[in-house]
Amino acid sequence: MDMTKRELCSTGIEELDIQMSGGIPLGSTVLVTGCSGSGKTTLCMQYLFDGAEKGDRSVFFTITEPLFKLTKNLESFSFYKKNLIESGMVNIIDLRIISERLGLDTEKYTVDDAGALLDILKDIANELEVKRLVIDSITALCYRLQTREMIRDFIFKLGTSLAVMNCTTLLTSEVPPQTYKFSQYEIEEFISDGIIFVGDIERRGDLIRTLQVVKMRGTDHTRTKFAMHISADRGIELMPLLKSSEIDSVLTEKVQSSLRSWDIPKEKVML
Ligand SMILES: Nc1ncnc2c1ncn2[C@@H]1O[C@H](COP(=O)(O)OP(=O)(O)OP(=O)(O)O)[C@@H](O)[C@H]1O
Ligand SMILES: [Mg+2]
Repeated sequence: MDMTKRELCSTGIEELDIQMSGGIPLGSTVLVTGCSGSGKTTLCMQYLFDGAEKGDRSVFFTITEPLFKLTKNLESFSFYKKNLIESGMVNIIDLRIISERLGLDTEKYTVDDAGALLDILKDIANELEVKRLVIDSITALCYRLQTREMIRDFIFKLGTSLAVMNCTTLLTSEVPPQTYKFSQYEIEEFISDGIIFVGDIERRGDLIRTLQVVKMRGTDHTRTKFAMHISADRGIELMPLLKSSEIDSVLTEKVQSSLRSWDIPKEKVML
C-alpha cells in the first residue's frame, strides 16, 4: 500500500495543513495541548466549522465550559456559522448533562461508568455519522477516570472505534503555562497519534502565541514553531516565527556597522 496516498483531514488552518503535508491522517486521535487561554477551544471549533463547510458532520463534547458561554464566545468569530449548528452539521453537547442523565457520579467514574460513557460517545458518533469529533477537555475527563489504566483504556478504545469510522478526533489537553509538557497524566500523549502544542514565548515584553506540531504519526511533518494569531475575522492563523538566530543576524548586522564606525574589534564584544 502506498502510504503517501493516505487520506488526510484538513484542520481549517491552511498553514498548519501545509506543515503536515496536507492535514491530519483520517481517523487519528490528536491532542491539542496548551495552557489556559492558549486557544485550544478556538482551534477545535475552527476545525469543526471548516469541516462542516466541506461536508463533514461533527460533534463537540464540552466538559469545562457551559454551552451558553461557549456559543457566546464563538459568535464573535467569522468561522462560526449558526446555520451549520441549526442544520445539525456541527453538534455541541454538554458531556456533564449526558453523565447526569446516565446517572454517573459527576466526580469519579467506576470502570462500569467509564464503559457506559464510552458507549454513549460511540453511539452518538455512529448515529450522527460524524467525521470529526472533539472532547474539550480530555484532562477533565481523565480526572474522573481515577487510574492510569482506566485513562489508557478509555482513550485507546475511543480512538480505535472512531478510527474505524474514519472519524478524526481532537482532544484538548490542559497543561500549566510555560512548560513543555503535553498532558496532565502523561498517558494521553502516548496513546494519541498526534500532538499539536499551543504555547507562548515572551519576546521584548510581549507574549507571542505559538503553535508546533510535536507528533503526527504517519505524516512527514515539520516541527517548526510558528507564531499563532487569533482574530475575530480570520480565526486562528499561523505565520513564521523569526528564529532567534535570524534576529541575531539582523542585530549583528546593525551592531557590526556601529562597531565598525566606533572602530571596536568585533571579537571584543559578546552579543
Ligand atoms: N473574538 C476574538 N478575537 C480575538 N481573540 C480572541 C477572540 N476570542 C477569544 N480570543 C482569544 O482567545 C483566547 C481564548 O481562547 P480559547 O478559549 O480557545 O483558549 P483555551 O486554550 O481553550 O482556554 P481554556 O484552557 O481556558 O479553555 C482569549 O484569551 C483571547 O485572547
Ligand atoms: Mg477552552
